[in-house]
Amino acid sequence: MEMKLAPSVMCCDFINLRKDLDIFERQGIELLHVDIMDGNFVPNFTLGVDFIKQLKKATNIPLDIHLMVEQPERTLDAFPFGEGDWVSIHVESTKHLQRVLAKVKEKGAHPIVALNPATPLCMIEDVMDDIDGVLIMSVNPGFAGQKLVPHAIDKIAETKKLLAKYGREDVEIEVDGNVNPANAIRMKNAGANIFVVGTSGIFFGDMEANIQSFRKEVFGG
Ligand code: DX5
Ligand code: ZN
Repeated sequence: MEMKLAPSVMCCDFINLRKDLDIFERQGIELLHVDIMDGNFVPNFTLGVDFIKQLKKATNIPLDIHLMVEQPERTLDAFPFGEGDWVSIHVESTKHLQRVLAKVKEKGAHPIVALNPATPLCMIEDVMDDIDGVLIMSVNPGFAGQKLVPHAIDKIAETKKLLAKYGREDVEIEVDGNVNPANAIRMKNAGANIFVVGTSGIFFGDMEANIQSFRKEVFGG
């Protein structure tokens, strides 16, 4: 499975965003992780629809849109995603999970089912046919800079097993929250291949050097 690095755009320097995008493009970043919060599903606000529209014009890097909103079926159409993008829908956010995931696919994007740390893995069993990815939250969503919930590592390994049981070894496993190199190595060994990197992964000191050393330490090249 291809290893993918997905910087969390909410951690960027918005005033000088072009500078960060240039670094991501130079470093061959696979996905841009865009957090959408509604102040309801999580107690915070971050990026929104207009920001995504501008981001899409500014770069060709595919987006990884993480919807932390209640009832995403009500607002999904507002988001400009399509071919090559990834969209995460939280199990906890909708009564109509299958319908929302199917709609993401209809729009040409890759549907990902997302699970908060306390949500049991069995919740994904009935949407196995509707997903290209599973997002295992390794912190409770809403804020950058939190500590790993240790159970996440076992949950990644369980996800890997469950996907194999259903013959879905092609489904990608994403992790989000406190993905520093040391945690990421454990996550990778457990089966993760998409790594959302925020304040603990790359957004400190020399970001370009951090991306390079993350790739070397975690992906081995
Ligand atoms: C929210 C975000 C954050 C964050 C990840 O879903 O994606 O979890 O920026 O990176 P850390 O935890 O290292 O700040
Ligand atoms: Zn996120």
